[in-house]
Amino acid sequence: MASSLSFLLLILLSLSSLSAANVHRTKLLRSSLISGPELRTNSTGSPTRFFEVARPIKLPKTKPCSYLALQHDFARTYGKPPVLAKYTPPSTCYSQRFSKIVLEWSATSKGRQFDRIFGVWLGGVELLRSCTAEPRATGIVWTVKKDITRYYSLLVKSGTLAVSLGNVVDRTYTGVYHVKIKFHFYPAEDEHLVGDVGNSRNSVPGYGSNADLILPISRNLPLNDGLWFEIENATDPETKEFRVPLNVYRAVLEVYVSFHENDEFWYGNLPSEYIEANNLTGFAGNGPFREVLVSLDGAVVGAVWPFTVVYTGGINPLFWRPITGVGSFDLPTYDIEITPFLAKILDGKLHEFGFSVTNALNVWLIDANLHLWLDDKSTKTAGKLLTSNCLPLAVSSALDFKGFDGKFLTGVSRSISSSGWVKSSYGKIMTTWKQEFKYSNIMAMGNHANLQIIKQLIHSNESVVAKKGSSTLASIRVYRDFPFYLYSNSVDQGKDTTFSTDNFTMAFNERRHRDSGSMRSSSSLSNVQNGQGYMTVKKHLVVSGLGSTQQVYKYDGSELCYFRNVSSSNYTILNDDIVKGCKKGAEPHHASRSNRWWPFRTRGLI
Ligand SMILES: *[C@@H]1O[C@H](CO)[C@@H](O)[C@H](O)[C@H]1NC(C)=O
Ligand SMILES: *[C@@H]1O[C@H](CO)[C@@H](O)[C@H](O)[C@H]1NC(C)=O
Ligand SMILES: *[C@@H]1O[C@H](CO)[C@@H](O)[C@H](O)[C@H]1NC(C)=O
Ligand SMILES: *[C@@H]1O[C@H](CO)[C@@H](O)[C@H](O)[C@H]1NC(C)=O
Ligand SMILES: *[C@@H]1O[C@H](CO)[C@@H](O)[C@H](O)[C@H]1NC(C)=O
Ligand SMILES: *[C@@H]1O[C@H](CO)[C@@H](O)[C@H](O)[C@H]1NC(C)=O
Ligand SMILES: *[C@@H]1O[C@H](CO)[C@@H](O)[C@H](O)[C@H]1NC(C)=O
Repeated sequence: MASSLSFLLLILLSLSSLSAANVHRTKLLRSSLISGPELRTNSTGSPTRFFEVARPIKLPKTKPCSYLALQHDFARTYGKPPVLAKYTPPSTCYSQRFSKIVLEWSATSKGRQFDRIFGVWLGGVELLRSCTAEPRATGIVWTVKKDITRYYSLLVKSGTLAVSLGNVVDRTYTGVYHVKIKFHFYPAEDEHLVGDVGNSRNSVPGYGSNADLILPISRNLPLNDGLWFEIENATDPETKEFRVPLNVYRAVLEVYVSFHENDEFWYGNLPSEYIEANNLTGFAGNGPFREVLVSLDGAVVGAVWPFTVVYTGGINPLFWRPITGVGSFDLPTYDIEITPFLAKILDGKLHEFGFSVTNALNVWLIDANLHLWLDDKSTKTAGKLLTSNCLPLAVSSALDFKGFDGKFLTGVSRSISSSGWVKSSYGKIMTTWKQEFKYSNIMAMGNHANLQIIKQLIHSNESVVAKKGSSTLASIRVYRDFPFYLYSNSVDQGKDTTFSTDNFTMAFNERRHRDSGSMRSSSSLSNVQNGQGYMTVKKHLVVSGLGSTQQVYKYDGSELCYFRNVSSSNYTILNDDIVKGCKKGAEPHHASRSNRWWPFRTRGLI
C-alpha cells in the first residue's frame, strides 16, 4: 500500500540498484506497487461494482433521515491536509431518537490507480478505516455501509468531519476517487430501541448501551496526513495525552490498526537471519510475528493481534475484482477494556495512552477511540486497581535453512489480565479483563527464494466480567481464529518481467457470548475466502493474468442470520447464493467448529 510517496521512491531506487547477483530474485509478496491491469482498454463499458462480503445491517422499519456529509474528488491529495467538512446533527429530522445510524461511503473511479488507505474521523474520533478499490479502464463503483450507532453520543453533536485519502495522479496512475459520504439516521420504532440497545438492556447501562462520551486518541489537526499515529519500528512508541471526567464508571478503548509498506505482508516477512545469510536485498525482515501493545501511563493494559487484512493491490490484484479481501473495505477494530484501570485516571489530571508494535517495520497506522460511560447521578466515582498482569511473550522459534531452501517455525503466546473495582451510584462493581493469545506460523522457502508457503494461525480468547457482590452483571466473551495460508511462486522471465502463481485461504472466525443478567445472546461468524491466480508483471504493472476467488460467509446471531456463498473469476461472478433468516433447529452456535473448514490440517509443511 503506497501510503507514502517517499517509500515509493525508495523502492524504485532500490529496485533499480539491485545487484546482478540477485536480480533473478523478486520481492516475495508484492505490494500495491503493482497497479491494476489494463487488460482491456475499452473505456466505454459500464463500471464494475466491487464489494466486500458482509452481513446486512439490521435496520428498523422507519424512514431514515439521510444527509450528504461530504463530497470530494480525491486526485492529488497525497501529503495534503485531510478534506474537512462541517458536521451538524440531523436537527431537521422528524424524530430525534434514533435506533440505528449508518455511514455510507460510495465511490467511483476509472483508469489505473493503486489501492489507497483512508480514514474518516468526526471530531478526531475515527469512524471508518478502509482501503480503496483499484479501478479499471471501464470504471468501478463501490459502497461501504457501516453501522456507526456505537458513536451515538458523538453523532448527535456538531463537529468537524475529516477524510484523509492520499492519492497521486499522473500520466500512468490516472484514477481519481470520486467520493460521497452519507449518514443515515433511522428513528426508533419504540423508545426502548434508542441507540440500538433493546436487546442488551442492563440494570447498569454501561454494560448494554452506547458510551456517553467518546474521546479521540489520535493526532490533532492541522496535519498534512491522516489523524493516525505512524509507528515506524519496534522502538517507536506513539503516545497521546488525555483527561477523563471525574464520574466515569466504565471505559473501553477501541483500536484502529492498519499496516503498510515493509509490514503490509508482515505474516510473510522473512527471518532477518535468512535475509542476511543469503545477502538478500529488497526483502522485508523481522520475521512474521507482530502484536500491537497498548499502554496506559507506561504500563501494558492490553494487546491487539491483528487480522491479516489484504488490501486490493495485495498478492495478486486480480483476486480482488470484484470480491474484495476480508476486512479490506471496513477494517476490523479491537476493544481493550480499561475499566479495571479507572482508579489510575479518575483524578482530573492528564494521562497517556501509548501504542507500540513488536518487531514493527515501517509503517503501522494506529489510533483509538476512548468510549466512556458517565454516572449521571454522581459527580465523582472512585476505583481501585486490584491486579494487573502482563507476562512476557512466550516465543519459540526454529529456523532450518540451507541457502535459499528453508523452513521456519514461530510459536508465540501471551496472556494479559487485570481486575479492579469502581464505585458509582450503581454500587461497587468489580471488573475482570482477560486476553489470551496464541500464534503459530510455519513458513517454507524454496526456488531461490521465489517460492514461499505460509501457514499461520492466530487465536484469541478475551473476556470481560462485571460483578456486583456475587452476582454477575455482565459477561462478554469473544473467541477469534484468524487462519491464513499462502502459496506464492514466481519465475523471472527477464526484461523486468516475472510470472507468478499464488493461491491463498484466509478466514475471520469469531464467536461472541454475552450474558447480561437475564439476557443472553451469542453469535458466530465464519468468513472464509480462497483464491487461485497467476499473473505476468512487467515493470510493476500486471500485464496479464487471472484471479479466481471463492468466499463462504456464515453468520448466526440472535438478531439475524445470514449466509452467502459467492465466487468470481476474471472479473465475473460465477455463483452467488444468499440465504437470509435463521434455520429452525439449527445446531447451537457454540457447537465446536474447531478449524473444520481448514483444508490443509493433515498436510503439515514440515
Ligand atoms: C467497448 O464496449 C462497448 C460496451 O460494452 C461495446 O459496445 C464496444 O463494442 C466495445 N468496443 C471495443 C473496441 O471493444
Ligand atoms: C525508530 O523510528 C524512530 C522514528 O522515526 C526513529 O527516530 C528511530 O531512530 C528508529 N529506531 C531505529 C532503531 O531504527
Ligand atoms: C554475502 O556477502 C558476503 C560479503 O560480501 C560474502 O562474503 C558472502 O559469501 C555472501 N554470501 C552469499 C550466500 O552470497
Ligand atoms: C478462554 O479463557 C478462559 C479463561 O481465561 C478459559 O476458561 C476458557 O477455557 C478459554 N476458552 C477457550 C476456547 O480457549
Ligand atoms: C496452491 O498452488 C500450488 C501450486 O499450483 C499447489 O501445489 C497447491 O496445492 C495449491 N494449494 C491450494 C490450497 O490450492
Ligand atoms: C458454494 O458454492 C459452490 C458452487 O456452487 C459449491 O460447490 C460449494 O459446495 C458451496 N459451499 C457451501 C459451503 O455451500
Ligand atoms: C477474461 O475475460 C476476457 C473477456 O472478458 C477474455 O478476453 C480473457 O481471455 C479472459 N481471461 C482468461 C484468462 O480467461
